[in-house]
Amino acid sequence: MDFEVRRSPVVLISGGGLGGLLLGILLERAGIQYHIFERASIIKPLGSVMVLGSTILPVFEQLGLLEDLERFAVPFKSTTLHSEKTDGKLKQLAILGMKNEKDIAGYQSQTFVRHQLYNLLLSRIPPENITLGKKVLKVVERDDRIMIYCSDKSAYVGDILVGADGSYSAIRQCIYREMAKEKLLPKADAEDLVAGYTCMVGATTRLDVEKYPKLIGDHCQSEAVLGCESRSWSCWGISDHRICWSLKVQYKTLEEAKRQMFMSSSWHSGSHPAMIKEFENLPCPLGGTLGDLFEMTPKGTISKVYLEHKMYTTWYYKRSVLLGDACHKMLPAAGQGAVNALQDAVILANCLYDLEDVSQESVTAAFKRYYDQRYTHAKTQFENSELAAKITTGLNWTDRWTRTLYLNLLPPSAQQGIFAKTTTYQPQVAFLPLVPFRGTGTVLPQVPSTRYTAEQESYERGGKEKMNRRASKLEIEYPADICFLPPRLQ
Ligand SMILES: Cc1cc2nc3c(=O)[nH]c(=O)nc-3n(C[C@H](O)[C@H](O)[C@H](O)COP(=O)(O)OP(=O)(O)OC[C@H]3O[C@@H](n4cnc5c(N)ncnc54)[C@H](O)[C@@H]3O)c2cc1C
Ligand SMILES: *[C@@H]1O[C@H](CO)[C@@H](O)[C@H](O)[C@H]1NC(C)=O
Ligand SMILES: *[C@@H]1O[C@H](CO)[C@@H](O)[C@H](O)[C@H]1NC(C)=O
Repeated sequence: MDFEVRRSPVVLISGGGLGGLLLGILLERAGIQYHIFERASIIKPLGSVMVLGSTILPVFEQLGLLEDLERFAVPFKSTTLHSEKTDGKLKQLAILGMKNEKDIAGYQSQTFVRHQLYNLLLSRIPPENITLGKKVLKVVERDDRIMIYCSDKSAYVGDILVGADGSYSAIRQCIYREMAKEKLLPKADAEDLVAGYTCMVGATTRLDVEKYPKLIGDHCQSEAVLGCESRSWSCWGISDHRICWSLKVQYKTLEEAKRQMFMSSSWHSGSHPAMIKEFENLPCPLGGTLGDLFEMTPKGTISKVYLEHKMYTTWYYKRSVLLGDACHKMLPAAGQGAVNALQDAVILANCLYDLEDVSQESVTAAFKRYYDQRYTHAKTQFENSELAAKITTGLNWTDRWTRTLYLNLLPPSAQQGIFAKTTTYQPQVAFLPLVPFRGTGTVLPQVPSTRYTAEQESYERGGKEKMNRRASKLEIEYPADICFLPPRLQ
């Protein structure tokens, strides 16, 4: 086909989280018009640790962001798993992690506080292409275009809508409601998210290395403890001699989980004194007690979150498409949630770059290519996250049994084989020069962009790309007949 007459789509992105921001950066590079609508009006520096694995780092290198990332990150190698004895002492159970990751996979995983990555990505989005304090409520398709309505009664129109708005995605709820009406929604997708844990996270200020000598070193000290009852906790030494900590309480029954979640959803900042009290006398594997860490943690960075998990099978409908937590909410134990949201953004941008025109037919074909390239990989990481959670935080008897089997019966070489296998999927941006694979392991082949390949050939012949990009007005008059109801599935 002829790329010279193609019209570039206008892409609306609901949610400026990690996935939405990376998609914006990629569309900027692709020359595709986009706008990000983010509900939050201020960005809070929540103190949650994040590990970014080797499978997404090639993209950071392609975008010239790897050095910026490495400036605030420390390399991650392994997690030491302990169990709490009845006398309050810790017993080391295992060291979990991939050996020689950099040699095999070409990159070493990196650890930092989540908002550091957030700020890096946000700094690459021109302010005129993101609006904060915009909560998307409703989606309407009309005349081959898609409209979104926000809580401040503004409305915007585009060709494609991306729901990058996290685990309670308004876009997912809107399109699922439509699909349910049309009897197109699989039953499992209509069910609620399931939570297994309450989790609280925070990050200390700079600590005294005389008290915490383990913080001196060139990589992240990561330690996890399985408590005597339904409690588990972990600590990571990150850059600037700081410690990120996380506390988890596992629910015993589904009913308990539902009761806990009834009051609220998503992230809550605040000091949560009851949960703090429950943990403060427990030992911190990096030294002292957890209470010592709480004292060194600015209250505003502490937040409480329910750890839910669900793999959705429906990722797109008409002109809307989902990415990240909106379509696969993973447990954090394997450090895969953000990586997969970012990989979604990469593949979706690749597919939009190759979009033939903005007809519904072409849009659906592009969404299908995205889904076909991503679903299986995301599902595998979803399952790995479930297993990692059982091994590193699970405390009921079935989890303990799984852990015993994994740690005692699976030979270390088999464990390393599993780690190595997960690093073979390293998708890159197909419309930018690829970075060569420098590892000794293997990687899956990249899916090339037909348009980029054609453009490269045309450049080589001395031709010039002529994009017929329609300058569209994004903001539209707000129609009087729309009523603003918060989206609900049932
Ligand atoms: C405790 C914890 C630790 C974690 N650790 C790791 C880790 O080490 N490694 C890793 O890879 N992953 C980790 N994760 C997972 C990771 O944080 C998420 O998977 C990732 O942030 C998902 O990105 P996202 O862009 O899909 O969603 P989010 O980052 O949740 O972004 C969604 C955005 O959409 C906005 N939004 C929501 N609704 C609307 C609306 N109606 N209109 C407009 N905007 C809206 C929200 O304000 C938010 O900014 C962890 C998660 C938790 C809870
Ligand atoms: C960014 O916003 C400006 C102003 O609204 C717009 O003209 C431009 O096309 C946008 N850039 C992209 C890549 O969408
Ligand atoms: C234990 O927790 C896991 C989730 O980690 C859950 O799948 C399992 O059903 C639970 N087992 C029991 C006996 O409650």
